[in-house]
Amino acid sequence: MKTIQVGIIGCGNLGKTHADCIAQIEGMEIRAYCDVFEQNAQKLLAQYGGDYATTDVDRFFSDPLIDAIYVTTQHDTHAEYSIRALEAGKHVLVEKPLAMTTEDCLRIGDAVVRSGKKLFTAFKMRYYELLWKAKELIPQPVMVTMQMVDNRWGDTIWANDPVKGGGNVLSQGCHSADILRFVAGGDPVEVYAAGSNYYQPSGVVDNMVAVFRFDNGAAGNLVQGDAGCPPLTSKFFMQLFAENKSITISDRLTTLTYKEAGKETQVFHGTESGFLEENKAFLRCLQEDTPAPIDHIDGLYATLMVLQAFESLRSGKPEPIKAVVEQAVSAGNGKVQA
Ligand SMILES: NC(=O)c1ccc[n+]([C@@H]2O[C@H](COP(=O)([O-])OP(=O)(O)OC[C@H]3O[C@@H](n4cnc5c(N)ncnc54)[C@H](O)[C@@H]3O)[C@@H](O)[C@H]2O)c1
Repeated sequence: MKTIQVGIIGCGNLGKTHADCIAQIEGMEIRAYCDVFEQNAQKLLAQYGGDYATTDVDRFFSDPLIDAIYVTTQHDTHAEYSIRALEAGKHVLVEKPLAMTTEDCLRIGDAVVRSGKKLFTAFKMRYYELLWKAKELIPQPVMVTMQMVDNRWGDTIWANDPVKGGGNVLSQGCHSADILRFVAGGDPVEVYAAGSNYYQPSGVVDNMVAVFRFDNGAAGNLVQGDAGCPPLTSKFFMQLFAENKSITISDRLTTLTYKEAGKETQVFHGTESGFLEENKAFLRCLQEDTPAPIDHIDGLYATLMVLQAFESLRSGKPEPIKAVVEQAVSAGNGKVQA
């Protein structure tokens, strides 16, 4: 089977994380590294090998030997680089969030459909074993709660910049939104949210509570912010409920406690990983020519779950999600039909 040649654009923390995963996987190797800071690209080239490191974006995207591009830059460049890669005939793995606006997510979807190439939205938490266990134990929950509360983010980090990052609630909240939808087992019809910019000087929404109504009847809520990581629940904390059944996933989603009425409580342990598994899943879909397991529609849903919650903060009313996705799909931004 052909070895997939990868190019990484954005050679910071996540560029390195993915390079490290690719180095552990047979069937993929890195050809090129691109970054606005040449030393960042050179550093990864020296550590993980490849053919070249460059600041020349045109050279990088037009390299005919690159099969797949990893977009691991700041959020405001995800749309431009993903679209450029797709239009150049490359497959794409893009770090979360897919993009910072609905319009940009839809433009990416359009490029996926037009190019026929695969786009994988990198939601590593989908590969946490205990989320799969939760889905197995309670496939149709009636209520799901997801809480991700971090320690206070620094005032000046790029992810808190409204243009480059969008703040914690968008940046990390899209992970939470994605796994909330994943375990709820349905698509979010609408969202109502309360929250605000409470203290971050950049003005981004820093803490928010959102309630989702899913199309399978499930009710979900998301508590997302950076007010301070709670020691009891840990940064990541999820609960699922169905009639006479409950699941609590604590310890950063590595301990699952399952209770069914009249039965012994069961405890399961898992790991907090996901990076290696998502890279393997991306490679598998390229080698087997199957749909990306987390595609642009999933990326769109997760981004919209946060952005429409922001809209609800402004309007004071519930805001639609599924109808926006359906309208986009019917307008041509949907999955490529077999
Ligand atoms: N999945 C996860 O758990 C997880 C965790 C952290 C970050 N991320 C995501 O990874 C992405 C990158 O975050 P990071 O923490 O690695 O940031 P980072 O600041 O460490 O790295 C970003 C890199 O991109 C480079 N860069 C910036 N603008 C560029 C441009 N226009 N062209 C080329 N290179 C450019 C920077 O020089 C830097 O080397 C973001 O989407 C972020 O949300 C995901």
